[in-house]
Amino acid sequence: MSYQIINKLINIFDPELSHSLAIFFLKHFFWSNRADEDDAILSVKVFGKEFKNPIGLAAGFDKNADVYEKFSSLGFSFSEVGTVTPRPQVGNLKPRVFRLNEDLAVINRLGFPNEGMSKIKSKIQNKLFNGILGINIGPNKESTSKIKDYLETFKNFYDISDYICINISSPNTENLRDFHEASNLESLLSELLSLRKSLESTVPVILKISPDIEEKEIPAICNAILKYNIDGITISNTTVRLREILTNQNKNEQGGLSGVPLQDLSNNLIKKFYKIIGKKIPIIGVGGVNSGKSAYDKIRSGATLLQLYTGLVFQGPFIAKNIKKDLVFLLKQGGFKSLEEAVGVDSK
Ligand SMILES: Cc1cc2nc3c(=O)[nH]c(=O)nc-3n(C[C@H](O)[C@H](O)[C@H](O)COP(=O)(O)O)c2cc1C
Repeated sequence: MSYQIINKLINIFDPELSHSLAIFFLKHFFWSNRADEDDAILSVKVFGKEFKNPIGLAAGFDKNADVYEKFSSLGFSFSEVGTVTPRPQVGNLKPRVFRLNEDLAVINRLGFPNEGMSKIKSKIQNKLFNGILGINIGPNKESTSKIKDYLETFKNFYDISDYICINISSPNTENLRDFHEASNLESLLSELLSLRKSLESTVPVILKISPDIEEKEIPAICNAILKYNIDGITISNTTVRLREILTNQNKNEQGGLSGVPLQDLSNNLIKKFYKIIGKKIPIIGVGGVNSGKSAYDKIRSGATLLQLYTGLVFQGPFIAKNIKKDLVFLLKQGGFKSLEEAVGVDSK
């Protein structure tokens, strides 16, 4: 059965139920087998690690570390679990996820439902996985100190993950995006990096930012990540804007918009950051990646690694394999000998 038919069936269910069914299926009926070899042109070395291709699973799909390891057989080179908070929480009231079929987009206002850091850590410790695993961390809704929550979660995961992503950009946790303001960001990064130092850890720290920042905020964010020597920046999370370009009846639902409508917004922001930070800090490009062409555009904008979530919802589990096939073709057609060579060529 093609994914187009499965997709029509999935449409019958509420999007969150479809997601739970997908997790259930991957967990119980999908056995990981050996991943295919990737074309050497796709391999990149980022934060000292070899990625055999640039495609990763974005945060939000596997919030509770149930299935991240299955994605390597589906052709992804890395997975990001989370967002994980210190204590378990249920998130916002349902319905809180909306599929916008005509727009190839999703709006969500989940609000970090997750099983909490201790349970999620124990699940990771009980799995065999030799792929690249990132953990995305954030504060609890009822937190009295968001920074304390980031520190606690960092401490919980630093020794069992390949990188930690600091999520300051979900639109569904009140005031979280205030961390984009320079002095708040510096306080957060300074405390986190002191903690990392005191733990004698070198685990890479990545910052995930919002696509809704103002142009004038970009230099200060770049200064902060350069000053604290952050290992990477993920651009971007979902947007609260762009409702005017949507057609689906749910277009005005509150929450973060992801998928195709986010493509240009995220690419333009990647270009602006790349112009300032160049290759000093690798960019993980996220937002509307759903084809070889959209992956190629993000790389040319300045991203070295990519992540996707909404593309998986509309195109199904073979999306990474399809993207890689077309990306290899586009890179070779563009005259590039490696993916690295194509990074940022449209940002100069
Ligand atoms: C249903 C849903 C839940 C998400 N949950 C999270 C989350 O918990 N943490 C996070 O950093 N990003 C989360 N995201 C954002 C994605 O990681 C990604 O940044 C965004 O969706 C843009 O990529 P895409 O267009 O490929 O979906 C979520 C996205 C969706 C659609």
